[in-house]
Amino acid sequence: MIATALTRLFELEHPIVLAPMGGVSGGRLAAAVSNAGGLGLVGGGYGDRAWLNRELDLVSQLTSRPWGVGLITWSCDRSIVDLVLAQRPHAVMLSFGDPRPHAAVIKAAGYRLICQVQDLAGARLAREAGADLIVAQGTEAGGHGGTCATLPLVPAVVDAVNLIPVLAAGGIADGRGLAAALALGAQGVLIGTRFYASDEALGSPRAKQSIVEGSADGTQRTTVFDIVRSLDWPAGTTGRALRNPFMARWHGHERKLAAVLDTESAAFQAAVRAEDFDTAMVWAGEGVDLIDAVAPAGTLVKRISEETEQCIARATGLCQQPTRE
Ligand SMILES: Cc1cc2nc3c(=O)[nH]c(=O)nc-3n(C[C@H](O)[C@H](O)[C@H](O)COP(=O)(O)O)c2cc1C
Repeated sequence: MIATALTRLFELEHPIVLAPMGGVSGGRLAAAVSNAGGLGLVGGGYGDRAWLNRELDLVSQLTSRPWGVGLITWSCDRSIVDLVLAQRPHAVMLSFGDPRPHAAVIKAAGYRLICQVQDLAGARLAREAGADLIVAQGTEAGGHGGTCATLPLVPAVVDAVNLIPVLAAGGIADGRGLAAALALGAQGVLIGTRFYASDEALGSPRAKQSIVEGSADGTQRTTVFDIVRSLDWPAGTTGRALRNPFMARWHGHERKLAAVLDTESAAFQAAVRAEDFDTAMVWAGEGVDLIDAVAPAGTLVKRISEETEQCIARATGLCQQPTRE
């Protein structure tokens, strides 16, 4: 069993957190991860009240273990934070944007605060906001994120935030990634794409299958899926998705896309409803090369944890006593 500041904070069996993937990490998936000994976070996304009420009811019915909720900071208002806190989660995660206004509300109500950051400036803001845990998210991650790679970002954030426990995110899909994160000074990992390809994840079986079949070099960061949905993400934030014909057509031609939203938006929304992934996006990270099947989330948690222990044992075996002359 691997014990870290993360496992101690929430009394977990494994230092594994489910990423709050909007529209994917519903109550069933979060509960499955929590029941397996990790920490499941429901993906609050852009703050759809009916969706949140349904999925938060579900997670609290399906698990008695700790669970939490993730919100996209810039897109949610105080009423969404209040709705989430009313369900008494064990943790709230804020990503993308200045966490301090919502953080104050969450901390004052006595809840654990997790902040996901993409660079050192974000890490310092998270520390100022009183984060109990900071997720250092590398550019390899699926979904929205920044430009710094996981490998140098994680130890830099560990150094910058002093004693606040740090989790690594971005491109981690098996025990080798978790072992590497621990070696970098992280206290655990936050995993998204690997859990998208799980039985309990919400979303289309075809999207899950495209993750199984996808390759890291077939993913790309882009803003075209945000432009076509008229989502006003902060400058510099892009989303990593599987490359598809819609992305191939519009990436690099963002201004032209913005000029034809009247027709393109409606066609895009129709494609989302029809699960037409030549147009609609499948957010996915560079860890897709490590994913070869859709699997139950609890099996994944246990498998990743066992692999991690094996990796650590193997790495420890590399250390030799100095030989005496
Ligand atoms: C399908 C998908 C949806 C995501 N949605 C969100 C979201 O709504 N809010 C958020 O903070 N992060 C979101 N993320 C990013 C995750 O929080 C996390 O940083 C990322 O999944 C970690 O990298 P990985 O996908 O390589 O494991 C999403 C990621 C994916 C793959």
